Amino acid sequence: MSFFPLSEDRAWQTLREAAMADWAGTSCWTSAESGITLHAGGAWHYAGQTDEPARRLLDCLAPCVCAPSPFTLAQLGQSIDGRIATVSGASHYVTGQQGLIHLHRLRALVDAVVVGAGTVAADDPRLTVRHVAGRNPLRVVLDPRARLSARHRLFRDGDAPVLYLTGQRPPAGLGSHVEVATVQLDSEGVAPAEVLARLHERHCQRVLVEGGGITISRFLAAGLLDRLHAVVAPMLIGSGRPSLTLPEIDTLDEAHRPPCRVHQLDEDVLFDLVLKAQDGRQ
Ligand SMILES: NC(=O)c1ccc[n+]([C@@H]2O[C@H](COP(=O)([O-])OP(=O)(O)OC[C@H]3O[C@@H](n4cnc5c(N)ncnc54)[C@H](OP(=O)(O)O)[C@@H]3O)[C@@H](O)[C@H]2O)c1
Repeated sequence: MSFFPLSEDRAWQTLREAAMADWAGTSCWTSAESGITLHAGGAWHYAGQTDEPARRLLDCLAPCVCAPSPFTLAQLGQSIDGRIATVSGASHYVTGQQGLIHLHRLRALVDAVVVGAGTVAADDPRLTVRHVAGRNPLRVVLDPRARLSARHRLFRDGDAPVLYLTGQRPPAGLGSHVEVATVQLDSEGVAPAEVLARLHERHCQRVLVEGGGITISRFLAAGLLDRLHAVVAPMLIGSGRPSLTLPEIDTLDEAHRPPCRVHQLDEDVLFDLVLKAQDGRQ
């Protein structure tokens, strides 16, 4: 077999294929198209020459693709001082173009993307895949008090299905692509475990929690995240919406210090935190 030099596009295509492939009973998977082999745990092998961007992409994303299901990942773009937006909610853009592409790649690799009501209210996001090739995930909105209105873009655009989880009567006028599910609320809103249980029931095994800080903090505090991608931009906002807020601790011995891998995304730095040990995809 002759091997082509491996380009970033080909590496990306392979990661997308691997995310959809059936890994049942195997600890590695080889793409018939590109010849790349991915191993459980995220190691990869290619017998030919590999471009530097392709190598970086595989190093960064193979561990997410090879993770066992179900798999829940969160991603945040934050300033060095731990802010994800200004006080008024402006967050476009904390991270640079490579950070944006990274986020769209994560969306393309999962079955569902989850956001809190605060993010929909502030950003009016579409939550679709536009900066890279790939399919759109199910879009999931947590709005316990039904404070959002039907005017938001993802409730109108029909580009991908939406699951709207609330404890109240939903707003009138939601598009026909929006499924409303009424859920039992806990003291803080929609319980993260309930969100994941509902998604797993619908065969959405791979989930991205995209924000904001409150939503990701709750999933993290509940011990439900397998990995956290924190993209840190060399920017000081100095005030505004915090990244993570967890229950108080007294000493630094109690702080989380998960294993971490670091990747450069232009000027930004991606900290890939492994919150749960992963042996490989099954
Ligand atoms: N830089 C980034 O990566 C990034 C990413 C996303 C968003 N943002 C920015 O972050 C800001 C919004 O973030 P945020 O932290 O203020 O709010 P958020 O996490 O988007 O939304 C929080 C709200 O969602 C509802 N909710 C229901 N169940 C929940 C649950 N289990 N966990 C969390 N929330 C639940 C609650 O609504 P109720 O208050 O109605 O009860 C809660 O107040 C915006 O300014 C946005 O621009 C930045």
